[in-house]
Amino acid sequence: MANPGKTFVVEHLDPELEQWSSLEYLTIASESYASGAQFLLSSVPTSLKLPSNLQGAKGLNVETRGIEEIYADKKDRVCLLDPAAPKDLSPEDGDTFDIFLFGGILGDDPPRDRTSELRKKGYQGRRLGPVQMTTDTAVRVTRTVVQDRVPVDRIPYIDNPDLKINKNESTQMPFRYVKGEDGQPIMPKGMMELIIKDSEKSLDDLL
Ligand SMILES: C[S@@+](CC[C@H](N)C(=O)[O-])C[C@H]1O[C@@H](n2cnc3c(N)ncnc32)[C@H](O)[C@@H]1O
Repeated sequence: MANPGKTFVVEHLDPELEQWSSLEYLTIASESYASGAQFLLSSVPTSLKLPSNLQGAKGLNVETRGIEEIYADKKDRVCLLDPAAPKDLSPEDGDTFDIFLFGGILGDDPPRDRTSELRKKGYQGRRLGPVQMTTDTAVRVTRTVVQDRVPVDRIPYIDNPDLKINKNESTQMPFRYVKGEDGQPIMPKGMMELIIKDSEKSLDDLL
């Protein structure tokens, strides 16, 4: 590990915390912990009851304060991962920044640019290539670039994978994922089951 000990902040931007997000956050927490990084889930409303899988999760630090308040004196060390930034993240950015900020929002197709809510705060921004990633993928890629010093275009990806729901149907995920050693997109534990459950539900709603 070339440059460990970075801080990854996901600013939760939704009033609720859905099951999809909780699986993503749990994965970010355990991967950050394993790599010697800090993970902060910020701006969590006091009224929000954390789902049981996140309560006491290893590597998860929950903050009700937002990024601006937490790092008021370190603004120039914060990098916003922003799909609309003019410059891609580079391994050298690991020397320039200590804190990497992500939008805690579910991906959408077409993208609604909710990252703009964080862009308005005036942080320096970096892109992770031209394709929308899930939040846990964006953190995984950033960690690989700034901690392991792998250039963003050298990481193996899978775009828009078709996931098999049952023997007749599949569903396409409109995101970029990191390709795992098994050749499959890396996804949070339990995500595949949730995708299957949600697709069966939407099929039932159509009937
Ligand atoms: C699921 S994405 C949300 C993108 C969303 N469609 C939007 O409204 O901005 C969640 C977060 O991951 C990060 N992210 C995802 N893809 C990215 C990319 N290609 N470049 C930089 N950051 C990215 C951003 O911080 C973003 O706020």
